Amino acid sequence: MKLVPITPHIGVEVEGIDLRAPVADDDFTRIRHALNQHSLLLFRGQTLNEAQHVAFSRRFGTLLGHVLTQFLKKEHPEVYVLSNVRENGAPIGNHKEGWNWHSDLSYKTEPSLGALLYALEVPPVEGDTWFGSMHAAWDALDAQTQSKIRPLHATHSYANYYGKAFADRNPLSDEQKAAVPDVTHPLVRTHPETGRLSLYVGEDVVKQIEGLPADEGDALLARLNKHATSPEFAYRHKWRAGDLLVWDNRSTMHRATPYDDVAYRRVMHRTTVAGDRPF
Ligand code: OGA
Ligand code: MN
Repeated sequence: MKLVPITPHIGVEVEGIDLRAPVADDDFTRIRHALNQHSLLLFRGQTLNEAQHVAFSRRFGTLLGHVLTQFLKKEHPEVYVLSNVRENGAPIGNHKEGWNWHSDLSYKTEPSLGALLYALEVPPVEGDTWFGSMHAAWDALDAQTQSKIRPLHATHSYANYYGKAFADRNPLSDEQKAAVPDVTHPLVRTHPETGRLSLYVGEDVVKQIEGLPADEGDALLARLNKHATSPEFAYRHKWRAGDLLVWDNRSTMHRATPYDDVAYRRVMHRTTVAGDRPF
């Protein structure tokens, strides 16, 4: 197994490992350490079935479901499907999932530690995913902004995200809304394993910064989101079928990008690892 850095701020490609078989403990220790240090891992050329994807994912922790239960696989409910494909008149997965910058499940009290996204079918062009290092974004802020935002908190809201991203769909049911009430998180979070700080923001899912007049809070949030999502801290992944990406939601944000969803199919399987409360 060989680890090859992708960019200075984020990403490592892990070569020479077939994830269909159980990963040896010492290899997994290196993988886990690399995730903490580089925030994003790329495994190319994999041929995983759902059970193998789930088994490798479980090494990282407990796996979570999703409020949109219709997109969880029946036989493997740990697998959440992202896709533009429809079968028998119904979508097989969530289309346009994550088309704005976010960290997964930040709308939960205990957001996701990380996720493992496996590409089954991808368009020949576009449909890339951006990943940004929120450590790098934090480090690059001027000292005055750092000390101003260090004590601040923000409201994260799935309902706010859903309303903006999926305005053309049926609204969330009362039951779904009750499952994802708004939550409060610090704007600056500490990585629980490395102690490094990162900027914890997001587009649409972050409704407001708490304790500031609305217009001042909105302006600050817009400025921080713009800074955090600058290409200088980011890596743009061009997918190939058989790619598995693992990312650390405690130190990154990511964003899907559009593609020709009439001409091409995109089918992705995601498992989501449980995390702890940001501090
Ligand atoms: C996700 C996600 C982006 C993509 O799986 O959490 O945001 O490009 N995916 O599919
Ligand atoms: Mn996501």
